[in-house]
Amino acid sequence: MKIEWYPGHMAKARRQIIEVMATIDVVIEVIDARLPASSSNPLLAKLRGVKPCIKILNKNDLADPEVTRAWVRHFEEESNVRALPLEAKQRTEVAHIPTLCRGMVSRPGKPWKSLRVMVMGIPNVGKSTLINTLAGKRMARIGDKPAITTCPQQIDLRNGIFLSDTPGLLWPVMSDQRGAYRLATSGAIGDSAIDYADVALFAVAFMMRRYPDLLCARYDLQALPESPTAALEEIGRRRGCLVGGGEINLQRAGEAFLRDLRGGRIGRVSLEEPGEEIVAEAAPEEG
Ligand code: G4P
Repeated sequence: MKIEWYPGHMAKARRQIIEVMATIDVVIEVIDARLPASSSNPLLAKLRGVKPCIKILNKNDLADPEVTRAWVRHFEEESNVRALPLEAKQRTEVAHIPTLCRGMVSRPGKPWKSLRVMVMGIPNVGKSTLINTLAGKRMARIGDKPAITTCPQQIDLRNGIFLSDTPGLLWPVMSDQRGAYRLATSGAIGDSAIDYADVALFAVAFMMRRYPDLLCARYDLQALPESPTAALEEIGRRRGCLVGGGEINLQRAGEAFLRDLRGGRIGRVSLEEPGEEIVAEAAPEEG
């Protein structure tokens, strides 16, 4: 199966970002620590140019710590880029961001001037959660509702920082199906757009290659099954996903497995490592 979903409203988002970017001092790009390449939209890097950027590797609680450290080193090879793994709901972790922003902008003679910071990222990476934690209260989002996308709202953090929300939807266009499968595995693509069994078979195959011990431990498997289908059937059997005659319902088994994986119940898992082919690419230029 090929995963297809509607990238949507990129031209409008692009125009708005260009407009707002001119006024921005620091860009905060939120990505998913489990799949930092596939959850990036390369359009952002293009539009940001050389502006200081903090890459937030969010959902760090779900990612493999060793792989995340490798991603931080990888991102920080680029000048003007800092990378910070965190869990967006954790105030103490998020509290480092304002200091980091200030440290990235030199203001000779004007140290008191407020900073303008823009939070960007594809849907479901945790932008709202991060903004709410930074603001200390629940803020209404404008970005993810195409019909009401207007100028980005500005939030005064009352610490010399004004925050702008991402304008519009920023789905990457995937040239490589593995990127789409990784996004689907992480839960970033709405479940109505995916086939559970198909995505789960991709994810089980990955787990068998990369984290076989975690897979066996979670489902009490004595040995690694010989194929992803056999493994998913075994998982389905253990999770009671049966239909008449003792057959396994692979859709339900897939759903149960993906819920376990996304909820961190199998362990901390990263779906991609630096050095692998970067799978996302910028959307083609529109209009
Ligand atoms: P967005 O604005 O970028 O679209 O993302 P949003 O903040 O809405 O977060 C998407 C989902 O990711 C939410 O879960 C949110 O709770 C979860 N999330 C955000 N940050 C983290 C994190 O650091 N760790 C983990 N484990 N999850 C995180 P949801 O199930 O869609 O909503 P909810 O029921 O939690 O509100």
